[in-house]
Amino acid sequence: MKVTDFILTVFCPILFFSIGVNSVDRHNFKTCEQSNFCKRCRSMNKSQNSMFHLVSDSIILNDKYLEAIIANTNYENVFLRMRLDGLKDKTLRVRINENGNPMYNRFQPVHALVSEPIFQSMTMARNETTIELELEQSTIKVFINIIPFKLNVYVHDELIIGINHNNLMQFEHYRPKPETIPDNEVGSWEEFFKEHQDSKPRGPSAVSMDFTLYSSTHLYGLPEHADSFYLKETSGSDPYRFYNLDVFEYELYNTMALYGAVPFLMGHGKKNSVGLFWLNAAETWVDIAGVNNNVDHTSVVESIVNLVSGSSGEKEVPQAHFMSESGIIDFFIMLGPKPMDVTRQYSLLTGTAPLPPIFSLAYHQCRWNYNDQKDVHNVETNFDVYDIPMDVMWLDIEHTDSKKYFTWDPIKFSNPIEMIRNLTNKGRKLVTIVDPHIKRDSNYFLHNDALNNDLYVKNKDGNVYEGWCWPGSSSYLDFLNPKVQEYYVSRFSFNNYVGSNEDLYIWNDMNEPSVFNGPEVTMPKDCIHYGNYEHRDIHNIYGLMQVMSTYEGLIKRSKGNKRPFILTRSHFAGTQRFAAVWTGDNIAEWSHLKISIPMCLSLAISGISFCGADVGGFFNNPDKELFIRWYQTGTYLPFFRGHSHIDTKRREPWLFDEQTTSLVRETIRTRYSLLPLWYTLFRNHELTGAPVIRPLFFEFPFEDNVNNIDNQFMIGNSLLVCPVTEPNVQEISIYFPGKDEVWYDKDNFQPIKINGFVKIPVPINKIPVYQRGGTIIPIKQRVRRSSSLMKDDPYTLMVGIDLKGTAKGSLYIDDEDSFEYRDGKFIHLEYEFINNQLISKCIHCITLTTNSWLEKVMIIGIPSVFSKASIHSKEGSTTELTVLYSASNQVLTIRKPSINIAQNWTIILL
Ligand code: GLC
Repeated sequence: MKVTDFILTVFCPILFFSIGVNSVDRHNFKTCEQSNFCKRCRSMNKSQNSMFHLVSDSIILNDKYLEAIIANTNYENVFLRMRLDGLKDKTLRVRINENGNPMYNRFQPVHALVSEPIFQSMTMARNETTIELELEQSTIKVFINIIPFKLNVYVHDELIIGINHNNLMQFEHYRPKPETIPDNEVGSWEEFFKEHQDSKPRGPSAVSMDFTLYSSTHLYGLPEHADSFYLKETSGSDPYRFYNLDVFEYELYNTMALYGAVPFLMGHGKKNSVGLFWLNAAETWVDIAGVNNNVDHTSVVESIVNLVSGSSGEKEVPQAHFMSESGIIDFFIMLGPKPMDVTRQYSLLTGTAPLPPIFSLAYHQCRWNYNDQKDVHNVETNFDVYDIPMDVMWLDIEHTDSKKYFTWDPIKFSNPIEMIRNLTNKGRKLVTIVDPHIKRDSNYFLHNDALNNDLYVKNKDGNVYEGWCWPGSSSYLDFLNPKVQEYYVSRFSFNNYVGSNEDLYIWNDMNEPSVFNGPEVTMPKDCIHYGNYEHRDIHNIYGLMQVMSTYEGLIKRSKGNKRPFILTRSHFAGTQRFAAVWTGDNIAEWSHLKISIPMCLSLAISGISFCGADVGGFFNNPDKELFIRWYQTGTYLPFFRGHSHIDTKRREPWLFDEQTTSLVRETIRTRYSLLPLWYTLFRNHELTGAPVIRPLFFEFPFEDNVNNIDNQFMIGNSLLVCPVTEPNVQEISIYFPGKDEVWYDKDNFQPIKINGFVKIPVPINKIPVYQRGGTIIPIKQRVRRSSSLMKDDPYTLMVGIDLKGTAKGSLYIDDEDSFEYRDGKFIHLEYEFINNQLISKCIHCITLTTNSWLEKVMIIGIPSVFSKASIHSKEGSTTELTVLYSASNQVLTIRKPSINIAQNWTIILL
């Protein structure tokens, strides 16, 4: 190793991450032009006929699916096999792979799927040119054009989506390397990027398909990109790129790849929403066209003519062109019709997030790094001194013995168990970082185990791949290998991870994987994984595979009793089943605060609700205004963690001035008071897939005005939030959706009945949050040092009544950290306010008891005709209650109903 290499590689990371340049070095990352397959696929011509057609006599519909051979007019003897499945809940799946035995296996990232999708039967009719499939009592029809191969999908005879309408389908079959490579194929057999060679021994293998979303006007999804929530035309830019990368100081509002890839897209129009999931783990680019146009729906007859003629009807409709470097064509169409139906359908495929332990929904305190046990202790106790609740302390890479994960620095963290005990005494937890790179150190058990048992990813020559990351020279566990998975799972047992116990949880970082000296800061594509797949084939799923093993490790160490908590940076479709996600290394700038909302919204509608951004900004130092506004925003995003870079100034909430401390205290306390709502919503997410935070169009699908709003969002169906994400503003304009809605300001209960924009004053202590009339929110008003200390505390119900004088809500309670709720040990209550009565209905209260009681009810927006109230239990007892009415904001407060929360009762207003 040259001295310069050593300096670069060992010290480079630190230098690399500490220079205060505020923009990404774009030259480190490829454009579509520089990615040979992207250039090839993108240059395909819409006006040319598709080269693919079905072989007419190969078409078979068996019990479960339709199968057919596809021929390629450019290659006489090359055939593909297509399979179309009708799936449960208005979903279709199309798979196209090479027919017979291709030269290399094509990777299929089935790990993204929660289980084998459930099929539903179809009927088929056909003639010479077209096949017609029908599902769900003929409400869904699929027309397949035989020559060329194209598909149209209708719901109730309305065209929803067209496939290969622009003739952009591509499937580059594996082929022997020609002796002399023709000029136009040079980049297909070898490619260079900066000083890196991609040897591409397997040659071209790209797949692509175009989709025309006839019933949509807007497209959303495709996380992770630091861009607006609604997808934009890409004709003047690069396509949206999916290639999980460690992007230093990422730029905003562009389509560059980031840490995660969820190739899920949602189309939305006035009448229909539709989902499209492209299941491919290789580098993928997506071109978007025709968005933001209001279009008429095409009639069935007109569109069949278009299907046959290959024309898209000349209308500009939203289109998406997916291009992947390898793998198979495998996509799912989810036919909604409402946004919430699409997320349910998508969650049937990729799963939902299991209910997180409640502490993980509370506030987390992180920094790269807390220096030693004393530091941890001081920070933690200061939270008590300053009366700020906090649930979790985090330890970054410096806590290890020389960046060897699963170890502790022997001097600075000599007694981790004692450190954890100090935290758990106050109901707190610890999270430690465990990255996937392994220090190549012959004194490191993990490295030795990996070498002895052949657990590492190989380079193209078959030797162990070596790259550079935090520890210097490192190798990378091959999580594709079941042997590695088993080994990794075992690392988390209390015996193996010495110094851990069940109050320690895990942060999987750098798992794109990040390789400082690799092409685009990641692993070379010609590295080899288990099963003889190239890294090119599996890249985007590498991080998911790590968190899957970590998850199982945490399950096993507690013998399946405790719920795991894991945070991951890299993610893919399905990651929600194992981990929370954060938006990586952002910057302490207002623009980065602002983008955290659309970034988390995109993830939330794509299955990953448990999302947050580094509060305060990772790089650089926030001023106090930005710091306060960031905490206020973080309070209302699902994952709430303060984190900062090693070179930034310390910034625990008490280190600014009194006003800052007090405002940060106030907002974190608000978060704690809302924990019952967050918890109930996460339970609902687990059961139904409903995103915990939602864009406005989810709740108001027919209101065009909300389609482009991405600075506001809903928490469940009840809170409308519009955080202040700009400096020095006196007021902001907030859009209030819904014609017959009333919204109550969370701070003063003043109603807003306007459907449209309203200017709202926003002094530094104001977070614009509104409860929707018609909803009931459970909260806890006694905030303590940590969430677990609040477990048995009483509840308050916030009843915001709608214009008809009614409201509904629910509350979910369990032991907050084990899996016993899956055996029925939980409490589920439904509330309804109607005819001036508030009714509590125990939907499920038998198997668990609670000491929590009902402390207060606040009925918001009620006229002053009531002076009394009484509570009636199911057993027949009646108690008179004290009532207090505030005429200025029309709030009736009922104090101390003092009844156990898990009860049936009715409060009657008199
Ligand atoms: C990466 C992570 C960051 C962490 C740092 C050191 O940059 O994104 O959160 O602090 O690595 O581990």
